[in-house]
Amino acid sequence: MNEISVGILGTGKYVPERRLTNHELEQMVETNDEWIVTRTGIRERRIAAMEQATSDLAYEASIRALDAAGITADQLDLIIVATITPDMFFPSTACLLQEKLGAKKAAAFDLSAACSGFIYGLANATGFIKMGMYRHVLVVGAECLSRITDYTDRNTSILFGDGSGAVVLGEVPSGRGFQSFKLGADGAGGELLRICGGGSRLPSTEQTVSDRRHYIEMNGRDVFKFAVRVMGSAAEEALSMAGIEKSDIDLLIPHQANIRIIQSALERLNLSEDKCMINLDRYGNMSAASIPVALAEAVEEGRVKEGDHLVLVGFGGGLTWGASVLVW
Ligand code: UT7
Repeated sequence: MNEISVGILGTGKYVPERRLTNHELEQMVETNDEWIVTRTGIRERRIAAMEQATSDLAYEASIRALDAAGITADQLDLIIVATITPDMFFPSTACLLQEKLGAKKAAAFDLSAACSGFIYGLANATGFIKMGMYRHVLVVGAECLSRITDYTDRNTSILFGDGSGAVVLGEVPSGRGFQSFKLGADGAGGELLRICGGGSRLPSTEQTVSDRRHYIEMNGRDVFKFAVRVMGSAAEEALSMAGIEKSDIDLLIPHQANIRIIQSALERLNLSEDKCMINLDRYGNMSAASIPVALAEAVEEGRVKEGDHLVLVGFGGGLTWGASVLVW
């Protein structure tokens, strides 16, 4: 029996309306627009309304992806939500989303791999479908990072935004779809990017809250060095597993953390900027949502044609990384 080819049947995205600009951040912390733009490339990011939580953002992206795929929610067999900002500890955001969508047949779970979570989710979904266990899997990257960002910390508050992207995976014609996945982790670097408070190691108390341990802590410089190293190497490994040359890449969809990190990946892959999706100027870093939102925008803008070779690559807390080669 021939192996099933698995690919993307539909994409969708949702970002909240409220924009937080660099100029507004100038009023909140000791920073300035020029520093943020030159050091990160970010100009503004979106912030969820108070009544919105991650599952609400995920729902909006999911209904668009289902519509694009031409299937209904009751045809879903599995929902995977990649997020570090679940609505609550449990039930999972994937279960909350299953209920909102009315996807009664679908199993559901969350996946925690920070900014690499969407690529980890795609790899899981592809495995389930290839195995013959499921036909249609919804993979969502969704984040309300504004809820875990310390707006008194200029190292982190300038970077993060809220949003959600979703895809429906299913069988595609032979030769198309996902060609390779390279996933990796290095737990030794976990302390470079984390939230310590509120878990079983350091349960929430008045003290943990007043010490601001419920917010993201980051060693930006070391994460930057790791990112520059791993973005290129993960993409190269995924290419070689797929038997595809760098010169065959039609579009790179990288994690949107910092324009300088993206530029170094482009250099390593010998690609010009026109072969890369960049939207971090408008959205900042949306962690697990960055790659699927960029992918959905690439599709909306007509930048992806049948047969194109796409490379998705990301890195994040854990530390984790992931890359995938996809024939559209
Ligand atoms: O999804 C993964 C999430 N995390 C990341 O991707 C983060 C990766 N790291 C980065 O993107 C960069 O390291 C940052 C954007 C966070 C920082 O840029 P950098 O070029 O590494 O700056 P730096 O931390 O080396 O700081 C340079 C200077 C320092 O001042 P001194 O010590 O040279 O006087 C900082 O205090 O810039 C200062 N600085 C700022 N100045 C104005 C740091 N943050 C700010 C700020 N505004 N927001």
